[in-house]
Amino acid sequence: MFALPDLPYEYDALEPTMSSRTLHFHHDKHHATYVKTLNELLSAKGKPADSLEAVIRQAAAAGEADKKLFNNAAQAWNHGFFWPSMAPGGKKPGGDLEAAIASSFGGVEKLREAFVKQGAEHFGSGWVWLVADKAGALSVRASHDAHDMVNVPGVTPVLVCDLWEHAYYLDYQNDRKGFLEAWFDSLANWDFAASQLAARGQGRAWRYPAQLADAKAA
Ligand code: FE2
Repeated sequence: MFALPDLPYEYDALEPTMSSRTLHFHHDKHHATYVKTLNELLSAKGKPADSLEAVIRQAAAAGEADKKLFNNAAQAWNHGFFWPSMAPGGKKPGGDLEAAIASSFGGVEKLREAFVKQGAEHFGSGWVWLVADKAGALSVRASHDAHDMVNVPGVTPVLVCDLWEHAYYLDYQNDRKGFLEAWFDSLANWDFAASQLAARGQGRAWRYPAQLADAKAA
């Protein structure tokens, strides 16, 4: 059985950019429901679940037969990665990350343009990601609905922002672009991004918390 990870900050820590009310609904209702449904589906299968990354890969390979499992597993993972992608404080990227941004985009302002544009123009629900390839080159990608970066070969996710309306509608209503600009300027966790970039291809990148021990034995 997979657990719902706690937020790595208080519910009001991201205000005013992201309200405590949004975080309560988003984490305690949306993410919690994905995790609950994931666990129910895995229990119904009657087989011991593996790591969440393995569950996602197996469900994706099964296609339509495991689409509901894939959607809930990938959404559980994506939200687990989204929480540490944010931090209060509005720091700026530094060190190797800043150099990689300069080399890949021409600077932080160009990355901001690309990230906000892809996120704002993405049709429907999904996610906008900053990812690194094996050589450390960075790029911005968007994914639809529950689709994640676990199944993308050679790619390490560095940061993600949730584009589903539940991520911003209480605070920004239909202004997704305004949300993305504020998110990039005030919430993007560049320390986490730097650790992901450094960990690429070494098996040390972020993973969803392991299952609870009692469920493994069940
Ligand atoms: Fe979400």
